[in-house]
Amino acid sequence: MRSGEMISVCALLVLGLKASDAVTVDYFDFGAEYYQTYGPSGEYLFDYEGNEMFHVDLESKSVVWTLPGLEKYTSFDPQGGLQNINIDKFNLDIMMKVSNFTAATNIAPLVSVYTTKPVVLGEPNILICCVKNIFPPVMNTTWIKNGEKMTVGFSETSFLPAQDHSFGRLHYLAFLPNEHDIYTCEVEHWGLEKPTRRVWKHEAPTPISEAYQNVICALGLAVGIIGIIAGVMLIIKGMKQSAAQGRSQH
Ligand SMILES: *[C@@H]1O[C@H](CO)[C@@H](O)[C@H](O)[C@H]1NC(C)=O
Ligand SMILES: *[C@@H]1O[C@H](CO)[C@@H](O)[C@H](O)[C@H]1NC(C)=O
Repeated sequence: MRSGEMISVCALLVLGLKASDAVTVDYFDFGAEYYQTYGPSGEYLFDYEGNEMFHVDLESKSVVWTLPGLEKYTSFDPQGGLQNINIDKFNLDIMMKVSNFTAATNIAPLVSVYTTKPVVLGEPNILICCVKNIFPPVMNTTWIKNGEKMTVGFSETSFLPAQDHSFGRLHYLAFLPNEHDIYTCEVEHWGLEKPTRRVWKHEAPTPISEAYQNVICALGLAVGIIGIIAGVMLIIKGMKQSAAQGRSQH
C-alpha cells in the first residue's frame, strides 16, 4: 500500500479490569496490540497506568522489560505476543477487503516539552517530549540542540495505548541545563502539514513575575477586605432588621 494509505487494527486487551460496566475507573491496566501494513510494523505491549511495562520485540522475538530487573519477579512468553500479531495480520487482510481498502484518517498529534524536575543550572535533568493523540502510530521524533540534530543521549517508550484508541509516546533526553543551550523536539506525522516543534530553553526568573505576584497578592488582600466589609454590613443590616421586626411586634 502507498504510504499514508493504511489501515490499522488496534485491539485493546483489557486485563484485570475489576470494575463493572456502570462504574468509571481512574485508570486501566491494559495493553495494545496492532499490526499495520506500513513498514510493515506492529506492536504487542503491556501497560500499567500509562507506563510501558514490557513489549515483545517482533524482530528478535523476545520480551523487552521497560524497568530492568522486573523479569526477576514475573515472566511472559513472547510466543503469545507473536501469535496474536499473526492473528492481527490475518484479520487485517480481511478488514481491508471489507472496508474496500479505505484508508484510516490521520490525526494531528499534540506535542509538549517539559523537564522531569525543577531546573537548577548545572544539575543533571531530563527533558521529556510528550506526544499524545497519535494515530496512526507512525511518527518521526528528533531532538535538536542549538540547531543540530542529536544522535545520542535519548530514549523513548513504545506507542502507549490511550482509551480513545490513539497512542501516546514519551521521549527522554538527559541534559545538563545551562543558560545558553536551546533544545527542540521535532515531530513528523502524516496528520501534520509541517513538523511540529517545541522548544525548551532556560528562562531566568524575571522581576516582572515578582511584580505580578505582588499584584496577585494585593488583589487577594483587597478581595479579603471587601469580604470583611460586606460581612460587617450584612450583620449590621441583619441587626437593624431584627430590631425593626422586634419593634413591629410590640
Ligand atoms: C470499492 O472501490 C472501488 C474503487 O474505488 C469502487 O469502484 C467500488 O464501487 C467500491 N465498492 C464498494 C462495495 O464500495
Ligand atoms: C520519517 O522519516 C523518513 C526518512 O526521512 C521519511 O521517509 C518518512 O516519510 C517520515 N515519516 C513521517 C511520518 O513523516
